[in-house]
Amino acid sequence: MDCGQACAMRILLVGASGILGQSVLKVLRERSHEVVTASRKDSDVSVDITDPESIRAMYEQVGRVDAVASAAGSVPWLPFGELRHQDVLDGVVGKVISQVELVRQGAAHVTGSFTLITGVLARDFLRTGTVASLANGAIESFVRAAAIELTQRVNAVSPTIFTESVDAYGDLFAGFEPVPVRQAANAYVRSIEGHQTGQVYEIG
Ligand SMILES: NC(=O)c1ccc[n+]([C@@H]2O[C@H](COP(=O)([O-])OP(=O)(O)OC[C@H]3O[C@@H](n4cnc5c(N)ncnc54)[C@H](OP(=O)(O)O)[C@@H]3O)[C@@H](O)[C@H]2O)c1
Repeated sequence: MDCGQACAMRILLVGASGILGQSVLKVLRERSHEVVTASRKDSDVSVDITDPESIRAMYEQVGRVDAVASAAGSVPWLPFGELRHQDVLDGVVGKVISQVELVRQGAAHVTGSFTLITGVLARDFLRTGTVASLANGAIESFVRAAAIELTQRVNAVSPTIFTESVDAYGDLFAGFEPVPVRQAANAYVRSIEGHQTGQVYEIG
């Protein structure tokens, strides 16, 4: 496939085994990139992004890459009145600090770009989704601010619910129009091969 000068980048993909990660992996390989996969299990490199030491070890093992793409990040889904302090911390660590740490530590290992994952709840709101909204909004502001200082480019992909996830979360997202996960994966291509920085690519 012809992808011009953007071909053959070496890309570290975190969360490669998930619904989104598998689609990002497929599209990046279709475009001839070398992809190093990372997650807690069943990937080229084992990492727990909630643990800064684990991220340090991952970058040391992987060495220099042109781009880092994150398709990981977890938050609790609970009614506001049932949230414990620990649930909020888990969400902030699971999706915000984990991805910020990928960028903070990655600045010494990555030459080209970072692409992080957020989601529609940064701009649309649901019962049980307060921590997801908090986390997604935080990462989107982080991306816009960090782009000013980083020598690498940094963007976020902010999709609505995927068609492939409707069976799992469809009731929660009643009335939201799902998008095929491939649309979100294509936004990673846009971020990695393109020239923009500080962008939030809203999908759906
Ligand atoms: N599904 C949707 O409709 C949708 C829509 C918009 C946004 N999003 C966002 O997209 C992201 C991925 O969603 P998904 O549906 O693809 O999730 P998923 O299928 O559960 O996949 C999550 C991926 O991240 C990895 N992972 C999870 N925790 C990790 C950790 N602490 N350290 C390293 N890797 C970790 C998992 O592998 P291991 O378990 O092996 O670590 C897996 O590869 C999430 O941030 C989600 O909020 C999803």
